[in-house]
Amino acid sequence: MTDSPAPPPPSGGDTVLLDGFHALKHALRFGAEVRTALTTDRARALDLAAELAPDLTAALDALLTEATPEELRGLAPRAHPTEVAALAVRTPRPANLAALHSRPRTAPVVVLEDPRNLGNIGAVIRLAAGFGATGVVTTGTADPWHPNAVRGAAGLHYATAVERLDLDGLPPGPLYALDPEGEDIRALTLPDDALLAFGTERHGLSTELRTRADHLVALPMRPQVSSYNLATSVAMTLFHWGGPR
Ligand SMILES: C[S@@+](CC[C@H](N)C(=O)[O-])C[C@H]1O[C@@H](n2cnc3c(N)ncnc32)[C@H](O)[C@@H]1O
Repeated sequence: MTDSPAPPPPSGGDTVLLDGFHALKHALRFGAEVRTALTTDRARALDLAAELAPDLTAALDALLTEATPEELRGLAPRAHPTEVAALAVRTPRPANLAALHSRPRTAPVVVLEDPRNLGNIGAVIRLAAGFGATGVVTTGTADPWHPNAVRGAAGLHYATAVERLDLDGLPPGPLYALDPEGEDIRALTLPDDALLAFGTERHGLSTELRTRADHLVALPMRPQVSSYNLATSVAMTLFHWGGPR
């Protein structure tokens, strides 16, 4: 399945659109440098902050600028119901690569092979952030920092290392590739330094990734069900790994 056509990112190469209050909140919590933050209703946004992010009320008070609806839509064409949008500096690639290659690794890296659906990518980044995974690597053409993926991840790109790489550039570590034909995950312990790889939504794992894998791993499914959704497969696998300790 492909994502519906999206308007081009309004941000430049080194900045990313944070669409909505929650994306801005998460980005600030995980250290993003926010360049601009607009809202059509500063008082309402600060009430939201007091209710949902009291740790950030002072930062948001200093950052948020009141804008007209037209100005907000200039930044975020499909404005979020919270009427908040911001631009933040994208985590530099060298910083992400350093995190992905750091040793010893204490939490897995999720690898998505050629994912097509930006909502799936965002959901996976949100899962990786929640579970404390080291990062999310994608191969293929989709940009994991596309505004629709950032929206799907609720701005949690700053809580884990998100990069697009070639298969040849994957960080080191034992490669566990998820495939319905593999060994039952319940018989395995997933190590902290694992690379957990998932195939593309329509076609599954490529022959190349399957060949490279140290282990093929299956999630339990009753007969006649072909597969799970990509993001739910990542959720089950990270849950089996163990999550934050
Ligand atoms: C939507 S599925 C791909 C379906 C595809 N038609 C196929 O034949 O594999 C996306 C990815 O989720 C993972 N996945 C889905 N169900 C799984 C299962 N039961 N066991 C292991 N991995 C699974 C695999 O990595 C798969 O490539």
